[in-house]
Amino acid sequence: SAAEKDGHDWFMRKEIFEQPRAVADSLIGRRTARGQLQLDEMRLADEEIRELDKIIIIACGTSFYAGMVAKYAIEHWTRTPVEVELASEFRYRDPIVDNTTLVVAISQSGETADTLQAIRHAREQRAKVLAICNTNGSSIPRESDAVIYTHAGPEIGVASTKGFLTQLVACYLLALYIAQVKGTRFGDEIDEIMEQLEEIPAHIDTVLADADQVYELAREHVSTSSVLFLGRHAGYPVALEGALKLKELAYIHAEGFAAGELKHGPIALIDEGLPVLCVVPPKGRDQLHGKMLSGIQEVRARGARTICLAEEGDTSIEPYADVLLRLPKVPVLLQPLVAIIPLQLFACELATALGHDVDQPRNLAKSVTVE
Ligand code: G6P
Repeated sequence: SAAEKDGHDWFMRKEIFEQPRAVADSLIGRRTARGQLQLDEMRLADEEIRELDKIIIIACGTSFYAGMVAKYAIEHWTRTPVEVELASEFRYRDPIVDNTTLVVAISQSGETADTLQAIRHAREQRAKVLAICNTNGSSIPRESDAVIYTHAGPEIGVASTKGFLTQLVACYLLALYIAQVKGTRFGDEIDEIMEQLEEIPAHIDTVLADADQVYELAREHVSTSSVLFLGRHAGYPVALEGALKLKELAYIHAEGFAAGELKHGPIALIDEGLPVLCVVPPKGRDQLHGKMLSGIQEVRARGARTICLAEEGDTSIEPYADVLLRLPKVPVLLQPLVAIIPLQLFACELATALGHDVDQPRNLAKSVTVE
């Protein structure tokens, strides 16, 4: 009923609008008065964390993209090597895993068969397994050595939204915690990054306040047969997740690419009027922003319709954006938390306009309990 959905037409739309609260809930109680980060329920001894020489993240679907973002954050803040692998591929390739490996399984439901089988395999090889999960007492946390629960609340829509955002938060917390224990140079910045994370719910509200602009854009695309998504760095998994949402809900062909790969193939796809959604990294000290800008110019010169997501105050993007959606100013590693919102809204609205069942897309299940 409409009441269960807080007056929204779909659970998914309700869950998109619950994201500021879901992120805030996932941050509660993590920072002590002395500015230390605490992750008590994790049950991994400091000694075990110091001895880690590799982290392997395994997951499926949207959770896999959260894992891709986590790799950027964990490696940058902790200097621990991270691999991200699809759970369904992991155990079939004879992975190199031992008792100095931490395997992190990310699963909203905690029941995904591919992920469950992968952690069983990892534990047989004596790896420590940490689950990041939204469902208390489900199979994956039960079979793991340690767990960080996300606090999204029940997610009903088949396509994950608030589940994804809270997974990102859990991954950032894990990364910062490892940095704290290992005493990397980013250890000193934990407080500052936590403060930036605590500002994210308000930033998401700002993005949600512009939902109508995204809805209008979505409705303009009801007869589109293909949409491309471009991103770089932490924006690359955002592009992949934006494309996945569109496939899942609108049944439209969509692909995400790392913008730097354009010239190695994808640019051949660019045709007059093809919509290309571009996740523009914040202007930083690195060259990411400039490189992204030149990618956008290249696709536009070949006829693409560029729809750019760029931070407030970024005027350099204006000449190359056919459509410009503004994002709040946040550091590049945290940008996925705000940049994914318009892409979720876009897919939800486009699927609605096409008359699809957004909460139960054809052929898909909320949790896939067969391999
Ligand atoms: C299914 C759902 C996706 C989800 C994936 C992984 O395919 O439709 O939305 O991302 O499973 O689920 P999990 O519960 O393991 O995160």
